[in-house]
Amino acid sequence: MKIMVVVASKHGSTREIAEVIAAELRLQKFSVDLVEAEHVNGLAEYNAVVFGSGVYAGNWLPEAVNFANHFQKELAQIPVWLFSSGPLGREKPQPQEDPDKLAASLGDVKARDHHIFVGKLDLADLTFAERMLVKAVRAPIGDFRNWTEIRAWAHSIASELRAANH
Ligand SMILES: Cc1cc2nc3c(=O)[nH]c(=O)nc-3n(C[C@H](O)[C@H](O)[C@H](O)COP(=O)(O)O)c2cc1C
Repeated sequence: MKIMVVVASKHGSTREIAEVIAAELRLQKFSVDLVEAEHVNGLAEYNAVVFGSGVYAGNWLPEAVNFANHFQKELAQIPVWLFSSGPLGREKPQPQEDPDKLAASLGDVKARDHHIFVGKLDLADLTFAERMLVKAVRAPIGDFRNWTEIRAWAHSIASELRAANH
């Protein structure tokens, strides 16, 4: 069984989440390709897709939206899991985005799950304009990603796929 993990990441933190998901799925004996959203040419040889994007100004990154628009028909034929990485902070991560709104570019594709992971903000990675913006909204700075939660989510995908094939 072959899985494509598709990711859109501007500053690399969502890409690292995708790498951990791919590694966990490989540990569970699945064959996994990790591909950037803008480099996906086709999904024909894949049995499932795990697709994630960083969130900027309340939306997925443009390359994630393009991928979702372009591959709607193919994604409707196979199991799909979505993740977004965005909210920041430790106690009550903000902002709280609506998963359905984020995934609007997928149209009628029914994902098995859409998990929102807490993200990472490092001022050193940002453009000048981004730095001004995050300072203006007083976004929490730091790496808030929860690797235990991320691995557990990937593990639950593996369990579902295995159960479906028995
Ligand atoms: C300029 C800017 C705008 C952001 N806007 C949002 C937002 O609207 N909603 C959200 O949940 N996270 C927002 N974030 C947080 C990012 O989604 C978070 O830092 C994420 O981990 C970045 O992923 P990446 O490193 O893969 O690009 C924003 C971050 C920056 C720098």
